[in-house]
Amino acid sequence: MLERFLIQGGNRLNGRVKISGAKNAALPLLASSILSENGLFLRNVPDVADIRTMLKALELLGVRCFFDKENHTVDIDSTGAKPRKVPYDIIRKMRASVLLMGPLLARFNRAYVYTPGGCAIGARPIDMHIDSFKKLGARYSVKEGYSVLKGQRLKGTLIHFDRKTVTGTENVVMASVLADGETVIKNAATEPEVQDLCNCLKKMGAEIEGIGTDTIRIRGVTTLEKVEYSVIPDRIETGTFVVAALVSGEKVLIEGAISEHLDFFLSKVVEAGGKIEVKRNTIVVQGQDKLLPVNIETAPYPGFPTDLQAQFMVLMLKAKGTSYIKENIFENRFQHVQELKRLGADIKLEGNMAIVNGGNMLSGADVMATDLRASASLVLAGLFAKGETRVHRIYHLDRGYERFEEKLRNLGAFIVREKE
Ligand code: EPU
Repeated sequence: MLERFLIQGGNRLNGRVKISGAKNAALPLLASSILSENGLFLRNVPDVADIRTMLKALELLGVRCFFDKENHTVDIDSTGAKPRKVPYDIIRKMRASVLLMGPLLARFNRAYVYTPGGCAIGARPIDMHIDSFKKLGARYSVKEGYSVLKGQRLKGTLIHFDRKTVTGTENVVMASVLADGETVIKNAATEPEVQDLCNCLKKMGAEIEGIGTDTIRIRGVTTLEKVEYSVIPDRIETGTFVVAALVSGEKVLIEGAISEHLDFFLSKVVEAGGKIEVKRNTIVVQGQDKLLPVNIETAPYPGFPTDLQAQFMVLMLKAKGTSYIKENIFENRFQHVQELKRLGADIKLEGNMAIVNGGNMLSGADVMATDLRASASLVLAGLFAKGETRVHRIYHLDRGYERFEEKLRNLGAFIVREKE
């Protein structure tokens, strides 16, 4: 049954919030368990819907997963893994299931993954993934909707991406750790989540150099072993709570975060007049009534993350004056704009630019979540809007935020989950 959030705006947030493990780091890490003959033991795995979907996919492939939700650990036994099909029902829930292609191809020389379609934020083709697999020696075809990849043991080569791709880089890294010879990835994505995957694979015995740079060198090995690894904290969840604290907080301590992963975002928050103090793994944020408009444009890491664009827009709705927000990564990532307008926001769209006239009071309304990060922005707006806001279709939010409403409630927000 569909669920929604009811939010009563105006409560001031105070206290501590603990950041969960990063969904977008945990997903490729889970997929990489197929590369090892006996599995992987992961810590700090967030209990969110996308993780459960990936675990389901692994189980369909014969991998046994034990998710201890209370302790956030997943014990994976991949001894019985088989190159079975990853069906439509999995892909339609989560496109990131394409991350299974690289590991399946590396371990079994074949992969059958249902071809993903577009999604709410853009067309999101996977042409760069497929072209790279082909360069590594796989043959590609589409049969009955499935993307079929087949070959012998992959052979290391040079992969030069036309543009940065996060899961594309991850897929190629996973495909090449067991390949014959050296693979060099140029124009590789440098996101902390990509680094986390590489660090874990190294611990498993892979030979990888250039982690965190845009040139990654991988020398193929023949086997990888089961290790224990802890997923990095979620930088997007961290950024979301930074905005929550700024728009409706007094003093909020965000614990278990790695602030360096958010350097650029935090510098923009400071430019907007946000008062932030970083003490080891804690970010202390003081709520702010006077904020300044600043302009941002999204870019691959270490630039401004597209996954925080919608939330930053809410911050700019509180700042008095005009700010310009440009989305460069996805062609349709402004669906929150229509919904924010229902709350009285003054935003104009010109192509991939949103012109935000902030400083007006928002008033509560019924709004609809369209994708994961858009949903978060609607909740943030509801926190400081006057009156009641209902955010419908929050299954989008449940894909990537762990116990979001509970965390906000612990800080003093009025937010409850209701059945539609
Ligand atoms: N692209 C292509 N061809 C490809 C691959 C990508 O044209 O073969 C394009 C995309 O359409 C997009 C751009 O390249 O315009 C960059 O996309 P990228 O491949 O980097 O995105 P992704 O790997 O599919 C990951 C995250 C997204 C995040 C983006 C950008 C995961 C599981 N997903 O997606 O996370 O927005 O990188 O940082 O890591 C989210 O968590 O809400 C989310 C959407």
